[in-house]
Amino acid sequence: MSAVPTLESLREQWWVAGTSAELGRRPVARTILGVPLVLFRAESKAAALLDRCPHRNAPLSAGRIVDGLIECSYHGWAFDGGGKCRRIPGMPGACEHRHQHAAAVGVAERDGLVWVRLGEGERDLPPRRHVAPDDRRFDTILWPATADCALIDGLENLLDACHSHFAHAGLVRRAAKRRTVEVTVRRTAEMAEAVYREDGVPDGLIPRLLEGTRATSIGRFFPPGTAQLEYAGPKGTRFLLTSHFTPCDERRVLIHSCISTPRKLAPAWLKRLALRFVFGRVLRQDQDVLRKQQANIDRFGGAKFTSTPLDVMRPHILYFLGRTGENSPPASNYEAKLTMEL
Ligand code: FES
Ligand SMILES: [Fe+2]
Repeated sequence: MSAVPTLESLREQWWVAGTSAELGRRPVARTILGVPLVLFRAESKAAALLDRCPHRNAPLSAGRIVDGLIECSYHGWAFDGGGKCRRIPGMPGACEHRHQHAAAVGVAERDGLVWVRLGEGERDLPPRRHVAPDDRRFDTILWPATADCALIDGLENLLDACHSHFAHAGLVRRAAKRRTVEVTVRRTAEMAEAVYREDGVPDGLIPRLLEGTRATSIGRFFPPGTAQLEYAGPKGTRFLLTSHFTPCDERRVLIHSCISTPRKLAPAWLKRLALRFVFGRVLRQDQDVLRKQQANIDRFGGAKFTSTPLDVMRPHILYFLGRTGENSPPASNYEAKLTMEL
């Protein structure tokens, strides 16, 4: 049976809930780990509260932002970014009672991303895994999306080399033209990766048009929710996709992707246009296959997976997410080599 981490077990971690650009004049409703939140900007800082007014439980996300406070649409109670009730219309004086305050959750903003954390106490943001927006060696675009799938299945999809020949047939790889590739899979205390030694041009439209010879493809997983793909030529990185996955609930994820390419390759606007076309198409194919997979798992009342050694990343993702499942996770540090036809 497939083991899916419970949403409850993931509450201590930071998750990307949105982008800085989304926090404008209106509140944003977002469900993270099954918990409805409202995101907004209060006095220039990002804020996240439970999307429930303490008065009569109307959704705060249906309200409006006035003078840096979020105002409930029902009776006009107004709350600051920390959830403190600052105004109860018709009732002069301070709002002192703690039951009048809305519940705030941890929030942090970095690199145009808004992170939230539902757990108690303090915890640092995870290290930056994507290319920083001000890194002048790369052009980086931020691409928010969603998919209808469980967290583990979305992460596996992005890091799985073997679906490309079918789900992205002709675009990323081609089933008729496989080559033998050596793969090194390793896991440290912080991450897991699969390094595919390619030394050639993958036979897909995108690599042939945009890449030239590919030395290595690397798929990395940084717990709890970041998956990264790096394609490198003989002279270094050509393409780096870092996708932050966030479970909304058991069957839906947010995906905030940072897509980076070296500065010199082409003018930034041309790359942006090409990436929108190419990445958008590949993303839609993945969204489609994930939606069908999830719907079918539901139709059968649960997952019943069979894995092979080619499914290299799933056991390691599950290892970090603290679960065992269809494969028992290997012991702490790990390295193995295998060959596959890619
Ligand atoms: S329900 Fe929000 S002010 Fe009454
Ligand atoms: Fe894919």
